[in-house]
Amino acid sequence: MDNQTPILSARNLHICFNLRGRVLHAIRGIDLDIYKGEVLAIVGESGSGKSVFTKSFMGLLDANGSITEGTIDYYGADDGKTIRLSGLKKEKDWLKVRGHEIAMIMQDPMTSLNPLKTIGDQIAEAVELHQHLKGKAAREKAIEYLRDVGIPDPERRAKQYPHEFSGGMRQRVVIAIAVACNPQILICDEPTTALDVTIQAQILELLKEMRVKYNLTIVLITHDLGVVANIADRVAVMYAGDIVEIGTADEIYYDPRHPYTWALLSSMPQMGVKGEDLFNIQGTPPNLFAEIRGDAFAPRNPQALKIDFVKQPPYFTVSPTHRAKTWLLDPRAPKIEPPAVVQRLREEGI
Ligand SMILES: Nc1ncnc2c1ncn2[C@@H]1O[C@H](COP(=O)(O)OP(=O)(O)OP(=O)(O)O)[C@@H](O)[C@H]1O
Ligand SMILES: [Mg+2]
Repeated sequence: MDNQTPILSARNLHICFNLRGRVLHAIRGIDLDIYKGEVLAIVGESGSGKSVFTKSFMGLLDANGSITEGTIDYYGADDGKTIRLSGLKKEKDWLKVRGHEIAMIMQDPMTSLNPLKTIGDQIAEAVELHQHLKGKAAREKAIEYLRDVGIPDPERRAKQYPHEFSGGMRQRVVIAIAVACNPQILICDEPTTALDVTIQAQILELLKEMRVKYNLTIVLITHDLGVVANIADRVAVMYAGDIVEIGTADEIYYDPRHPYTWALLSSMPQMGVKGEDLFNIQGTPPNLFAEIRGDAFAPRNPQALKIDFVKQPPYFTVSPTHRAKTWLLDPRAPKIEPPAVVQRLREEGI
């Protein structure tokens, strides 16, 4: 990983949706640099804004949503020019970004595949659009991609349709199509949630290989911190439309600072103790229609401080790579020990 070069930066990003005259504030002032070549995991509960945030990189927000403040800049274009993604309006401009610069893989591979076209044709189409190859050359290249993503007997499989593939194999095909577009950034939105555990691990392994082979920057979205431990270089923890903690994977697993990160770690299935109920984060995320005061997680944090209900914490720096938005890092804060699970992770590893 090249630690120095951001490929995409979001600054003070706000995204709102209009819903029958009311405004839902889905993304609330995100600042983030994504570095070239890294695997960045974005974790957080359902509704925390993981999909909305990353869809905004590709102009894929639903029609009732828009960026209301802040910027997203992309630095990976061939000509070296910065593209201000938050300023793109025309579909024509987005078509130059989608697939070609930034590609996305969704949870359900069926939604991204055309049931009426062979797998080979679908990959060849991506090759023709993005790689200046036509006809037979594109079809041959498609077979190469199928082989790359671990589909056995690719010549024969290329002639088959999506329904002839298992869930895991379909997700491999979707990865092949994404890679065939030659993107710089690959966003994987819960790519393995619908798959069983063994297949899940295989797909993550494949993403690791693809990242090296095709020089990809990968953004991996998940609600389960346990799943990404082996693949992520850095982890960003999202809560109520903001990144409340970010650090290297080691920092997030072994030295987490935000009470919400503690809660997420405690609720990982592998941290369960036999015979005991798995830890569940109590309460529900805040209502994003209402204005949020203080630390958004405070109402669910049994050890919240007074100030947590009054003032939003800024980022406090833990290390050059690690920061968290929690008043616990203020020098004046009382010392609150992380839960036992954090200690256990430190001792036993993940
Ligand atoms: N078109 C829309 N109109 C109104 N609200 C929306 C729209 N799309 C998303 N939202 C809201 O934005 C917030 C963030 O949603 P998002 O889909 O990004 O969550 P997520 O973290 O991806 O959750 P999940 O893990 O369930 O996929 C949620 O409150 C959601 O209801
Ligand atoms: Mg989502």
